[in-house]
Amino acid sequence: MVEEKGTILIVDDEKPIRLLLKNKLTTSGYQCLQAEDAAAAIDKLKTEPVELALMDIRLPGKSGIELLSEVRKDYPDVVVIMATSVNDIDTAVNAMKQGAYDYITKPFDLNTVILSINRGLEKRRMEITLHDYEQNLKQKIEAQRNELSQRFLGAMQSLVFALEATDRYTAGHSRRVSEISMAIGEKLQLDTEQMENLRWGSLLHDIGKIGISQAILNKPDRLTPEEYEHVISHTIVGASIMHPVFGNDRVISIIEHHHAHYNGKGLHQKVQGEAIPLLARIVAVADAYDAMTSRRSYRVAMSRNQALMEIRNEIGRQFDPLVAKAFLELSQGEILSEKKTVLVVDDEPSIRLLTRSVLSDSYTVIEAVNGLEAVKAAIKHNPSLILMDVFMPEMDGLKAVHEIKSKPQTKEIPVIMLTAIDQKLNKKLSEDLGASAYIIKPFHPKELLDNVAHFIN
Ligand SMILES: [Fe+2]
Repeated sequence: MVEEKGTILIVDDEKPIRLLLKNKLTTSGYQCLQAEDAAAAIDKLKTEPVELALMDIRLPGKSGIELLSEVRKDYPDVVVIMATSVNDIDTAVNAMKQGAYDYITKPFDLNTVILSINRGLEKRRMEITLHDYEQNLKQKIEAQRNELSQRFLGAMQSLVFALEATDRYTAGHSRRVSEISMAIGEKLQLDTEQMENLRWGSLLHDIGKIGISQAILNKPDRLTPEEYEHVISHTIVGASIMHPVFGNDRVISIIEHHHAHYNGKGLHQKVQGEAIPLLARIVAVADAYDAMTSRRSYRVAMSRNQALMEIRNEIGRQFDPLVAKAFLELSQGEILSEKKTVLVVDDEPSIRLLTRSVLSDSYTVIEAVNGLEAVKAAIKHNPSLILMDVFMPEMDGLKAVHEIKSKPQTKEIPVIMLTAIDQKLNKKLSEDLGASAYIIKPFHPKELLDNVAHFIN
């Protein structure tokens, strides 16, 4: 059996010529289809997987040249070889200019026909392989570009979270601003791309605080006008940090304009009203709400109702009316889910800091440095979960768990033990004492988050 090399469409109005070609090509291993004119050829192309068309230039009705231009347009993968008489070479050359791969002259030298067909099909296969390779490469580059961009943004986000975690008053701020911004965005029915930009812009809106003096950021008193001016420059600093490495202008404009006032009266403000990007106007409301309802070193937190009143009063002044109204229509549940409290007990400050920075976006974290303090804190704050070190001064973790598990008001609180070494004895003791799980230090942040989420939910 001859191996099939490809499907060829023979277009010629003279049946003897079609049969001659068909016989030769079939014995050479090709599958052959026949058409006596352009209309029949198009019908075959529509239904059959033709790879090469061998077309007479002179056809009844639509000419071979007209058929050629249709095939090039609608079936660009089909290789076309024109057949012509010896005295019609100019037309043949013209056909090649219009995209025919080759021409052969009548009367046919069948070996030349086979040679031309083989070359044409080889070229087609190479082009298809090249095209597939290019497509594949484009997809790979796109996927890698996306991954790089996500990784970069993720790294920037970690940086912001770490920065915020060093100050108990701002811990979790960006995460909360992002949650509120997304809720407003949904209310305003933003499209997917806007929502994605809003997510990153809100998470990174304060990235420029990296360039602001820590002494001023963490100052326990109100800021002087000069200090306030310095702090506000984080919008420009943030935009200029992100600009050279991140091409998404929409995200950068959120960072740059998130302190702009709708009426144009913010500090050093160049644009106002609708000229402030919508996503920045959204983050402005979310940012203000979270700042007002969070405790600061120099003031207590406003109640939710006070903060809502403040936002209502600033409609058309600090805030865009459309955005502020959308925000005010959100229910409390839509704005923020109530945070649960996690008690971290460890005498090692670095472990407490790490744990706080990992958990504080999603949980309210309180701390104790030994078992004695832990028992008191458990009674006082009734946390949803306790993370307990084993070896500590004053009272160790095992004793503390025993105390907590034997008091009716705290015995239901799940406890996860943190320990530096994998001691079977510790494990057994903590299990006997009623601890829910056991994490070995040093632990991976994800392991901690997963365990906490598992036992809190
Ligand atoms: Fe800010």
